[in-house]
Amino acid sequence: MPEPGGHIRDRTSLDGKVAVVTGAARGMGAEQARSLAARGAAVLLADVDAGGGRALAAELEEYGAGTAFVPADVRDPAHWETIRETALDRFGGVHVLVNNAGVVGHRRIGRITRAEWQRVMDINLKGAFLGMKTLAPDIRDAGGGSIVNVSSAAGLDQHPDPSYTASKWGLRGLTKTAAQEFGPWRIRVNSIHPGYMDTPMNDFASPALRAAKVSLLPLGRPGEAWEAGELVAFLASDAAAFITGAEIAVDGGWTSGAQATEARRMR
Ligand SMILES: NC(=O)c1ccc[n+]([C@@H]2O[C@H](COP(=O)([O-])OP(=O)(O)OC[C@H]3O[C@@H](n4cnc5c(N)ncnc54)[C@H](O)[C@@H]3O)[C@@H](O)[C@H]2O)c1
Repeated sequence: MPEPGGHIRDRTSLDGKVAVVTGAARGMGAEQARSLAARGAAVLLADVDAGGGRALAAELEEYGAGTAFVPADVRDPAHWETIRETALDRFGGVHVLVNNAGVVGHRRIGRITRAEWQRVMDINLKGAFLGMKTLAPDIRDAGGGSIVNVSSAAGLDQHPDPSYTASKWGLRGLTKTAAQEFGPWRIRVNSIHPGYMDTPMNDFASPALRAAKVSLLPLGRPGEAWEAGELVAFLASDAAAFITGAEIAVDGGWTSGAQATEARRMR
């Protein structure tokens, strides 16, 4: 019989876990790494931005569970092998993979080049595929764990950049396939769908565009990067033990009706 109150014990600790986060040098990836480290995980940071990645690794040392930075382009299978070897050599295994690295373009179907389309698809979709292909067997060997794929509200509705929309819908679907394949290995796989977040990715936006986006949000403000980080830490932990194959929005209500609101305004 469980102890009285036992059902509410804290299961969010990540003590003894090893997490890999891609695109970790800044923005949401950096906050995901902070949230994971704060709960006790050793965190391996991967990014093409070596300066930002090394600085964050130095900062995360204070949490005490261990951290490392690997310069890596998620499009390159050889870089994934380096990530894998570093995780095994330094920390003895992997339990959590966060496929967060992503880029966005700004041209619509009529103007996007094939090279621009391919770059976004390769980073946002193929990168996550390579990550799961490389690390899932190690997560299995560690006794199971959690994979979080960072899609977007654009993976639930749309974005003006067709490659961004397609890559994020693709990642949402790939998540379901992986949840089915890796469930028997005790690996949970979920996608998260951030909405309009205040990160360097949105620095291009004019004050007018930002205000227009925010006006469509029920909460009346953009998201902060840590708000996605906390969701990732929850999904990584045993508190989310029965959640797999799910798609979870962290979007201030954007996908609950912003598109409809926008469409009504345009009538
Ligand atoms: N900011 C938003 O509003 C928003 C909304 C929905 C989803 N997202 C998604 O969240 C994720 C993080 O976005 P962000 O806003 O923090 O972006 P960001 O631009 O602030 O950070 C992205 C990070 O990914 C790294 N990166 C880019 N290409 C890479 C590659 N080939 N290999 C390894 N690392 C690479 C960058 O160097 C950077 O550190 C992305 O997948 C993005 O598509 C962002």
